Amino acid sequence: MKQYRIVGGTPLQGRCVLPAAKNSVLPILAATLLCSETVVLHRVPRTSDVRTSLQLLETLGKTPCRPPRAPLTIAPGPMLCSELPWDLAAAMRSSIFYLAPVLHKTGRVTMPMPGGCRLGPRLIDIHLEGLARMGAKITWQPKTVTLTRNGVLHGADYTLRIPSVGATETLLMAAAGAQGASVLRGAACEPEVKDLADFLNRCGADIHGAGTPIIRVRGTPELGGCAFTPLPDRIIGATLACAAASAGGRVELPNARADEMQDILQLLERAGCRVERQNGVCIQAEGRLQGVGKICTGAWPGFATDNAPLLAAAMLRAEGTTEICDTLFEKRFACAAQFAAMGADVQVKGRTLCIAGRQTLHGAECYAPDLRGGAALVLAALGAQNELSTVWDAGHIDRGYPCLAAMLRKLGANVRTKTVQGRKIDTQPLIYL
Ligand code: EPU
Repeated sequence: MKQYRIVGGTPLQGRCVLPAAKNSVLPILAATLLCSETVVLHRVPRTSDVRTSLQLLETLGKTPCRPPRAPLTIAPGPMLCSELPWDLAAAMRSSIFYLAPVLHKTGRVTMPMPGGCRLGPRLIDIHLEGLARMGAKITWQPKTVTLTRNGVLHGADYTLRIPSVGATETLLMAAAGAQGASVLRGAACEPEVKDLADFLNRCGADIHGAGTPIIRVRGTPELGGCAFTPLPDRIIGATLACAAASAGGRVELPNARADEMQDILQLLERAGCRVERQNGVCIQAEGRLQGVGKICTGAWPGFATDNAPLLAAAMLRAEGTTEICDTLFEKRFACAAQFAAMGADVQVKGRTLCIAGRQTLHGAECYAPDLRGGAALVLAALGAQNELSTVWDAGHIDRGYPCLAAMLRKLGANVRTKTVQGRKIDTQPLIYL
């Protein structure tokens, strides 16, 4: 099992170039199945979800190639099968992105229930309902779902029940390859959705309005290929900004897009950080921060749910209170019990994490409950002056960060990773009330 070992108290200093956003790259990798020519992707992060996606693509007949320090190239190949292997599909939520492309290419797709962070129920009804409107026939077996089509998928005018990021991306891929025109209403507007549409358009698709709630797509029988650089990872940007807020110091993110990080930057400013938005983003934190009061996560351009535990970590030692309600996921704050193990004054009431800032935190042995929760524990540990903390189960963190420890070390933090034999079991009680 992988551990992070952190000694807190060193202010951060330096710059970090952000890799491409995992949440852009993962649907784009699935979309390459629609491409009949080579795709070249730049700055793809070496995270475990990307590794799993490349294995999945290989199983399905693509030939991904990634020499060290070179872009990722995905050559076209015949589709070999229409069943997503259990171990790969169950390892990440993003296996859902393979439904539409595999169905388009082979006429059939069988998928076990996707894995990913356990943030509460993560339904897939909108993905399936939208695909059904385009002509997919859905059959459930115990623990798997199979989609088939008679003839090609056809365009549809479909309104999403809620602006699901993943479902919008599934339906974009479906509509891009369908016969005729589609309109997606109530679509998610996150930058990663627009990035997927930009990628598909570069490959020859005809998509207008991505990044707004109404997306219009004219189906194209076959997509080509392209060279593409997905947008920089705004959640890693937020992680490093919150790391500076937790540990103090000054962190420059030269390729960060300030307009895509407004949610977290405005809150960090409210807490007392200095933020510069020229030539990327620069965050500076000195002295004790102020709690930010009551806030809620929301769909874009609201406060991103993925940033909620990261901001929470930075607020544990702030003066005054912070209350963060997560409107998207029921169990976003599974990391709260671990914050408490570090001496933080936290409570979870329903979907709301309540923090009464403490002057100091102490080191603790804690357990990453999920990807962002795990990263949040590392950030909290950076704020525990001269104290050693250990974060177990750190494999969760690797799903979304190409070595968070190395990024933080580059900024001067005392963070090491270690792989140890066996597994330690978390005995902290969950503090959901
Ligand atoms: N939902 C449904 N039905 C559906 C799909 C979603 O009810 O068919 C619900 C979910 O249960 C959830 C809400 O809608 O309560 C939002 O889910 P959404 O579909 O928007 O999220 P996602 O596509 O599963 C992506 C990111 C998440 C990020 C969310 C919200 C990827 C691979 N994942 O998930 O990122 O939190 O959007 O912005 O893009 C992460 O990076 O750590 C992560 C979890």
